Amino acid sequence: MTTDDTSAKGRGAADIRAHEDEEAAGIDRPGLHATGDARPHNEPFRSVLARNIERRSFLLGAAATVPVLMAGSAALLPTEAEAGARRLSFTPIEPSQLDDIIVPENYESRVLIRWGDPVLPTAPTFQPNRQTPEAQEQQFGYNCDFVGYFPLDSDRRALLCVNHEYTSGEDMFKNYSPGVNRKQAEVEIAAHGGSVVEIQRAGSIWSVVKSDRYNRRITGDTPMVITGPAAGEPLMKTSADPTGTRVLGMLNNCAGGKTPWGTWLTCEENFNQYFANNGLAADPAIKAAHARYGVSSGPTGRRWEAFYDRFDVVKEPNEPFRFGWVVEIDPYDPTFVPRKRTALGRAKHEAATTAIAKDGRVAVYTGDDQQFDYVYKFVSKNKYDPANRAANFDLLDEGVLYVAKLHDDNTGEWIPLTIDNPLLKDKFSSQGEILIKTRLAADAVGATAMDRPEDCQPNPVNGRVYLTMTNNSARSNIVADSGSALANPRVPNLNGHIIELTEQKNDHAATAFKWEIFLLCGNPEIDLKTDPDSLTPGLPSSATFFAGYADATKLGKIASPDNIAFCSKGHLWIATDGQPNSADIGNPNDALHVVPTVGRDRGYLRQFLSGPKGSEVCGPEFSDDERTLFCAIQHPGEGGGIPNTVSTWPDRRELPRPAVIAVRREDGKDIGL
Ligand code: FEO
Ligand code: CA
Ligand code: CA
Repeated sequence: MTTDDTSAKGRGAADIRAHEDEEAAGIDRPGLHATGDARPHNEPFRSVLARNIERRSFLLGAAATVPVLMAGSAALLPTEAEAGARRLSFTPIEPSQLDDIIVPENYESRVLIRWGDPVLPTAPTFQPNRQTPEAQEQQFGYNCDFVGYFPLDSDRRALLCVNHEYTSGEDMFKNYSPGVNRKQAEVEIAAHGGSVVEIQRAGSIWSVVKSDRYNRRITGDTPMVITGPAAGEPLMKTSADPTGTRVLGMLNNCAGGKTPWGTWLTCEENFNQYFANNGLAADPAIKAAHARYGVSSGPTGRRWEAFYDRFDVVKEPNEPFRFGWVVEIDPYDPTFVPRKRTALGRAKHEAATTAIAKDGRVAVYTGDDQQFDYVYKFVSKNKYDPANRAANFDLLDEGVLYVAKLHDDNTGEWIPLTIDNPLLKDKFSSQGEILIKTRLAADAVGATAMDRPEDCQPNPVNGRVYLTMTNNSARSNIVADSGSALANPRVPNLNGHIIELTEQKNDHAATAFKWEIFLLCGNPEIDLKTDPDSLTPGLPSSATFFAGYADATKLGKIASPDNIAFCSKGHLWIATDGQPNSADIGNPNDALHVVPTVGRDRGYLRQFLSGPKGSEVCGPEFSDDERTLFCAIQHPGEGGGIPNTVSTWPDRRELPRPAVIAVRREDGKDIGL
């Protein structure tokens, strides 16, 4: 789900698009999207890039050692070239507007589990016209997003951890009545959160095991603990929790990650949309903090505040501070109490991906999915112990949270958001407050404003970290945007881009890095720029760049990169959220693409899968043997509401159902090769 859309979740697509237009025009509507108004605008990434290009042009004639700007000219290590020899060999598919899953020839896809399917053995059969919260608490939730594969004892058994990001009442109920029908609100809360399901494979077919050994539903009402420096802070205390350490539920969990010790990181993203009436908040400091995160100034779309005081800022001003965190869950222990890890900061987290630093500490990368917001990295204080799983469970409670600043010489720095930072120590009372107000702290240290940072993924082959910037419809023009609120070389950035970040000495604990543009997404048939030096600020949104790959006749078309994943060969798999909005590429359905990052095919992007109408493709996630690719198909049919939903996938009935699919080659061999 796009953040542009987020405050409008629960509304129709037409409302969402209209809202985007208003946002682009600088119009704020109470209850919609107040976020952008309350922040100072740090130097946008685009202006950094502009200066960067100028500087590079000047230096190129004088010094051979200047950092290269564009990925296409990056020198490859021998191991990278070798890995790149494992070339992709599938026949790409064409963009599609069909209401179905499309995969390449010689591949097959099957639905593994849908909204309403049983998760717990006691779950009743799904009855779309008689939904109850008691049933939904035992069934697969709505709008699946992140998918994590956790192995069991063979390549035929595993656990899948799946996020249920948000509900779309108009696509779930025939007579959706927010604020009036309490039972619908209870079903919606139960449809949020996540699922842990045991799966097994017989031959080529995966199925869900209806077992109570591992299977679990986590909802918007599941008891959780708050850990790390912000636990117990005054701002975390409510009338229901005077300790500031216990909270009910996780909300809007978008993407996530897996830790090396086998836990699931699930990320609260657009939590702001569940909390009402910030415009009436009594405390100006609390009101300002909530406004920076876009908490609704008036009623919410779902109107849960009509039934629960905690969703009304006037009644419980601190409750929103208890959301917007990365939550850690042990999928192998169904009694594990989920832990909100405050040391990782509070933002609209898209994903949280881990990498081990050279000295054994743990780095966690995360993007804050908002126009002009930031990229973060946490580095743990203590080291990962591969020999003692239990010893790693609280690694994410102590460490340093950094925010990224990109400089104009292709370098960047990770700025610590710590109470001893001179730029912060007079503005915040404690480390806990800095973390609760992470965005405000990042504003204060001059972080670089980006184009909606979504996923961040370390590449297992070259160690570089790839950052997706999904799009930024609010960028206006280069002159007016200078020094203000824009973050991309294109005006506007409707198609998104991907940045490639190289940590100093390839060490994930480094506080310095270099960066390059890897992809400028769009339609290469309109504008393919093979020469990095031809990239200049103020390019039209149709301008593209594919890591220097030059043959436009081979390249696929892509827009709005969102969730990404690497296979072990270093190929980057890119799921999209917003292609139907891109006229440049013909408004196709959202999709899954793949692009090599190493070897001679670097930048050669191809489409692998197309989703049904109205859906967004999420996940993606490989089985450990990389012979199954799981994807979450989120919000099929979005855009009309019952009875006008635009999809009947997957059951070919009136009600579309979000679902996880499993894709395999018909011969059972490695995906893509
Ligand atoms: Fe839920 Fe950033 O997409
Ligand atoms: Ca998105
Ligand atoms: Ca996403």
